[in-house]
Amino acid sequence: MGKTLFDGIDERYDFLNRLFSACLDIWWRRRMVGKLAPSKDMLVLDLATGTGDSASGILGKGARVVGFDLSLNMLARAKQKIRNPIYQLAAGTVYSLPFRTGTFDGLTCAFGIRNMHETAKALDEIFRVMKKGGRIVLLEFSMPRSFIRVPYSFYLKRVMPAIAAMFSERDAYLYLAESIEAFHSPEELCRLIEGTGFTVCKKTPLCFGNVYIHEATKPV
Ligand SMILES: C[S@@+](CC[C@H](N)C(=O)[O-])C[C@H]1O[C@@H](n2cnc3c(N)ncnc32)[C@H](O)[C@@H]1O
Repeated sequence: MGKTLFDGIDERYDFLNRLFSACLDIWWRRRMVGKLAPSKDMLVLDLATGTGDSASGILGKGARVVGFDLSLNMLARAKQKIRNPIYQLAAGTVYSLPFRTGTFDGLTCAFGIRNMHETAKALDEIFRVMKKGGRIVLLEFSMPRSFIRVPYSFYLKRVMPAIAAMFSERDAYLYLAESIEAFHSPEELCRLIEGTGFTVCKKTPLCFGNVYIHEATKPV
């Protein structure tokens, strides 16, 4: 597997998440995990597991978790941070998940789906690996439509990359800003999720619509 953008920013990834979100990212992931309501009998795929911050919340509820990611460096951080035998890690791309059809009871994906540029193709694979009745919960950035859109855009495009340059890769954080602006609106993402076959996509805005949670279920 070749080097990815995330392989260059793994070292300071957690620190910059806390810094840029004023620690709100911890609460956002907690909300996502709460919406999945994991329990001991569940097997959950934490897609784009990164350094494992969502996975640790799911593991805390006793569910078994498979953390899957494209970046070997991010996975290495996750492995270092979370030493729990019921957290298993696998590397690869969402477009061909190495799991049998109908494997998972639940799926979380925090700030990952935006990076999967062929969204419909990614959602098809997600649909395939879910059990009937299985639930998916996606957490993702969005461009707010309210009065904070302009200052938020300035923060994303100017402030964040400048600060990131002091600790990490400026270009990776510039990509973050551009990818948030270019990503589907929450309504479009819901349509794509339902178009895949999931039922009743529900979207919940957090923080003035800077972040959204999307939830849906694979029909029984
Ligand atoms: C912004 S990070 C999010 C990490 C973690 N979920 C979190 O909340 O901090 C996005 C992650 O998506 C992964 N990723 C990007 N494209 C992917 C793909 N095609 N398949 C699997 N993972 C992918 C990256 O390697 C990266 O670790």
